[in-house]
Amino acid sequence: MSLSKRSWAEPFKIKMVELLKMTTPAQRQKAIKDAGYNTFLLKSEDVYIDLLTDSGTSAMSDQQWSGLMLGDEAYAGSKNFYNLEKAVHKYYGFKHLIPTHQGRGAENLLSQVLIKKGDIVPGNMYFTTTRLHQELAGGTFVDVIIDEAHDSENLFPFKGNIDLDKLTALIKKHGAKKIPYICVAVTVNMAGGQPVSMENLKALRQLTNKHGIKIMLDMTRIAENAFFIQQHEKGYAKKSVAAIVKEICSYTDGATFSGKKDALVNIGGFLAVNDQAIFEEASNLVVVYEGLHTYGGLAGRDMEAMAIGIAESVQDEHMKARIGQVQYLGDKLLEAGIPIVLPVGGHGIFIDAKRFLPHLTQDQFPAQALAAEIYTDSGVRTMERGIVSAGRNKKTGNHYYPKLELVRLTIPRRVYTQAHMDVIAESVEHVFENRKKIKGLKMIYEPKYLRFFQARFQKL
Ligand code: F0G
Repeated sequence: MSLSKRSWAEPFKIKMVELLKMTTPAQRQKAIKDAGYNTFLLKSEDVYIDLLTDSGTSAMSDQQWSGLMLGDEAYAGSKNFYNLEKAVHKYYGFKHLIPTHQGRGAENLLSQVLIKKGDIVPGNMYFTTTRLHQELAGGTFVDVIIDEAHDSENLFPFKGNIDLDKLTALIKKHGAKKIPYICVAVTVNMAGGQPVSMENLKALRQLTNKHGIKIMLDMTRIAENAFFIQQHEKGYAKKSVAAIVKEICSYTDGATFSGKKDALVNIGGFLAVNDQAIFEEASNLVVVYEGLHTYGGLAGRDMEAMAIGIAESVQDEHMKARIGQVQYLGDKLLEAGIPIVLPVGGHGIFIDAKRFLPHLTQDQFPAQALAAEIYTDSGVRTMERGIVSAGRNKKTGNHYYPKLELVRLTIPRRVYTQAHMDVIAESVEHVFENRKKIKGLKMIYEPKYLRFFQARFQKL
């Protein structure tokens, strides 16, 4: 068979395994009821295949594990900090690094340093923690992603792109002075892991330069975005993922990063910026919330594992297997007629719950109900990305009604096998066959912040 047609396969072998508990349907029915039909409230030992998130759930390599033993647990100036700083320079090109315990720690710092009360912060679709930090700092998030992103059936390959007309209109309306930066997420999580094209980033750089607006990346899944550019954007087929990653960063002024995704670690993140003044202010503020600016809430060993993980994350063979596995599951579900977000994105498969359960209204939390149903069927844990995740409008108190009402089957990196993917697909297929019997939910407990994590439900 010609090289280009051959299958993806993992560029690693398995050295250690973690045994899983198998449960019965009756045990799972009880577990999900006790969890208030919220998969975040299940005990992980009651879960067979855990697709709740790809965050902090990856398998580290032997190199990363040995990096843990090289932890220099000094309060200040740990050598692991300098190794991480070197990796950030080498692979991303940013000048200054401030480590944080995870992504949202960096979002807090960035928002507090750059956003003033009354500011507008455009972004390519909201992310839960990012938007909340922008709001807590007094800003208002405005979505400027292209319309295609809100349509689960549109096949455009770069559905993460920024709509430059929407952004231009926003600048006209509020004035550039009210817009400290645009937050650009690479592979947009809430849109289904959809990438941004390099062409769009370049055009955005030109537009924002004209108005003196900064571009701050949410570079949490940047290697996945780079892989899609390599596969689908003209002129990039022969460039390495590593080179594309660095080029993306070169069009921006800084970034927040959750190392728990691409960088293959269980904890860690950072803020990286080029501007000296922003760096000084943020590295002062980090002391208040996270820890000294050379550890930011991380142990030395965590910084070492992240430095090694960053290097592993941009390897072409790694990304080919990573996205190959997600695509494999997507193809299986498509064959079975399951409505999923297309094109298949970077970090998981997103089932369109509105099309899966057309008999439920969005007020009956169809994606939440479907996630509970899949767990009961097979012990596969997924999560809601719809009306519950979207939360409420701060001013009106009403639910946001996002166009996308999705169940996310998020694939941890280097953790599950192709056989696991088959079991997942079979379970979703079984639930699909019985979909007409699935009932909606009623929310009986709603926490104030990021409600999807802790809300509780009852079956209608
Ligand atoms: N930005 C994006 C795009 C994310 O997906 C996440 C986390 C964060 C920022 C925040 O990073 O968790 O390290 O504080 N996403 C996880 C998820 C929680 O399951 O999608 P964090």
